[in-house]
Amino acid sequence: MDSNQPTLEVTNLVVEYSAKSRSGRGVEVARAVDGVNLSIASGETLAIVGESGSGKSSIANAIMRLIDVADGSISLEGQNLLDLNGAQLRTARRNFQMIFQDPFESLDPRRTVLDTVIESIAIAGIASSHEDQKALALQALENVGLIPAERVGERYTYQLSGGQRQRVAIAAAMVLKPRLLVADEPVSMLDVSLRAGILRLMQQMSEQLGVATLFITHDLSLAWMYADRIAVVYLGRVVEEASAAELITSPQHPYTKALVSVIPVPEVSTHDKRIVLTGEIPNPTDIPAGCRFRPRCPKFRELGEPDVCATLDPKLKSTDNHYVACHFAGQ
Ligand SMILES: Nc1ncnc2c1ncn2[C@@H]1O[C@H](COP(=O)(O)OP(=O)(O)OP(=O)(O)O)[C@@H](O)[C@H]1O
Ligand code: SF4
Ligand SMILES: [Mg+2]
Repeated sequence: MDSNQPTLEVTNLVVEYSAKSRSGRGVEVARAVDGVNLSIASGETLAIVGESGSGKSSIANAIMRLIDVADGSISLEGQNLLDLNGAQLRTARRNFQMIFQDPFESLDPRRTVLDTVIESIAIAGIASSHEDQKALALQALENVGLIPAERVGERYTYQLSGGQRQRVAIAAAMVLKPRLLVADEPVSMLDVSLRAGILRLMQQMSEQLGVATLFITHDLSLAWMYADRIAVVYLGRVVEEASAAELITSPQHPYTKALVSVIPVPEVSTHDKRIVLTGEIPNPTDIPAGCRFRPRCPKFRELGEPDVCATLDPKLKSTDNHYVACHFAGQ
C-alpha cells in the first residue's frame, strides 16, 4: 500500500431509497446521500455530525455494505468494497467492523460474553483451534477493561449493562484488528456518565492499532472532544469539513455556525450569539434547488436573498484543508 494512501476513501457516494409519494399513488426517490467524499487515514478519527435525517447512518451502512449504493466508490486500503462479491465480502469483513447504537439489539442475549467474542474470531477465521480462539477472546476482553476476563466471559450478554455490552461489541470488533471501525452513535443510548469512558477506549484502541475510525454523532461537542477531523452533513451532503479544533473555533458554513453557537461550552459559545435555526431539515425526496440549506439559512436572509443561492448548488471548496460549501464562505 502507498504510505500516503488514506485507509478509507469514499468518492461521490450516493444512496437512494424508494419512498411512497405523499399522494400515496406513486413511488418517489429519496436521495439520502448525495455525492459524499470522505477520506480517513490510519489511526485517525473522522466524525460525521448532523441532525436527524441528514444521512449519517445511510453513509455508515453504505460503507459497511449493509445497504445498496446507487453510485460512487468505497475504497479500503485501495480495494473498492463495491466490487466484492458475496464470498469476497465475507472474507474482507474482518477489515471493516461496526459498532452499533443499540448494544441491547446488536448482541445476542443468549450467548455468553466469551462466546460472543469467540464467534467473531471464528467467523473471521483468524485462529483455528478452540484454545487459540479462547485465549484471543480473553485477551480482547481484558483490553476493553472487562476484568477479570474469565469471570465476565461466563456471563450472558443480557446480564450486562449498556456500557459493558458496548465494551463487548468493541472487543469483538477490535480483536479482528480491522483497518476501519465505523461507530454509529455508539454512546447515545448510554448513561451520560459512561460515555466518555467508552469513547476514550475506542480512541485509544484505534490509535494503538492504527485503525481509521468513522465516528457518527449528532453531538458536535462529542465530535470536538474525540475526533481529529469533523465533517458536517446536511441533507445528504458534506457542507463543511476541517480539523476538529478549526471547525469549532472558526466555522465558515452558516449551518455549522448555528451548530457551534449552541455548544454548551463557554469558551466556544461566547464568541457568537446563539443562532437558533428555524424550520426542519427537508425531505430527501424534495431537495431544494440551488443551495439545499437556503430555506433555513440565516445568512441568505441577512444578505437580502441573493439569486445565486437559489440557482447554483455550492460545491465544497477548500482553503488550507478546510472545506466549505457556501457561496459566501468567509464573508
Ligand atoms: N430504509 C429507508 N427507506 C426510506 N427512507 C429511508 C430509509 N432509511 C433512511 N431513510 C431516509 O433517509 C434520510 C437519511 O436517514 P438516515 O437514517 O441516514 O439519517 P441519520 O442522519 O442517521 O438520522 P438519525 O440521526 O435520526 O439517526 C431520512 O430522510 C430518512 O427518512
Ligand atoms: S450558499 Fe447561500 S443559502 Fe447556502 S449556505 Fe451559503 S449563504 Fe446560505
Ligand atoms: Mg442514524
